[in-house]
Amino acid sequence: MLIACWSPKGGTGTSTAVAVLATALAREHRVTRVADFAGDQPALFGVVADGPGVNDWLAAGPDAPPNAIERIAVEVAPSLSLLPCGALDARGADPSAGDALGALLNDDAVITIADLGGARDDAHVALARRADASLAVVRSCYLSLRHLVHHPLVDSVDGLVLVGDKGRALGRRDFEATTGRRVLLEVAVRPVLGRLADTGLLPSACSDDLLVPWRDLVSRLQRSRRERYAA
Ligand SMILES: Nc1ncnc2c1ncn2[C@@H]1O[C@H](COP(=O)(O)OP(=O)(O)OP(=O)(O)O)[C@@H](O)[C@H]1O
Ligand SMILES: [Mg+2]
Repeated sequence: MLIACWSPKGGTGTSTAVAVLATALAREHRVTRVADFAGDQPALFGVVADGPGVNDWLAAGPDAPPNAIERIAVEVAPSLSLLPCGALDARGADPSAGDALGALLNDDAVITIADLGGARDDAHVALARRADASLAVVRSCYLSLRHLVHHPLVDSVDGLVLVGDKGRALGRRDFEATTGRRVLLEVAVRPVLGRLADTGLLPSACSDDLLVPWRDLVSRLQRSRRERYAA
């Protein structure tokens, strides 16, 4: 199963959301991997992963060997591994490579959470379109909403995670009314989470109560996708 996570605007909290979601799943003994297309996951997980990675796989084209994926995986915690990014972007990679990698990861029993950053490269957009589910991470601000509306993946997004700053004028209803998609999870900016991210201690030291809201996000996302197709 592949869940593609992306954000219409930089600095929103996408990489943190991916790391926390993957940690929550792995804590429940669900075998999970993070596919890092944007480059920040090793720092969040406190590991070194500077070898070849998924963007190199995309650059090699749709016929790149499937078993190369397992060879580049780095263990992060029990039930949790990381596919590093390698090259920092997939500029120039063919969309057919994104489609092929998406199909490969979809068909795997392991849950892969992809951090696609802004999902601007064609191969990243193709991978997100092929994924079992596409999740956009947004902030409760006008610029985030504005960028979302113009993003190439807005038509195929299955649900939203809203990272909320207190006192902002925009909220859940504005995002749902504008996109026709549900906000599946609202998370507050929590200093404790920021500190764990800063120190690479998310997988080992994140308390269970911080992870609880993320536990059933995947099932809510799948339900939302089924409803979208049924409509
Ligand atoms: N829920 C949260 N609680 C506290 N801090 C957060 C939360 N989400 C993100 N942050 C902090 O906000 C900053 C940006 O987060 P992050 O790097 O995850 O965003 P991003 O969307 O991946 O950014 P980029 O566009 O650079 O990839 C980081 O300092 C991170 O620790
Ligand atoms: Mg990021």
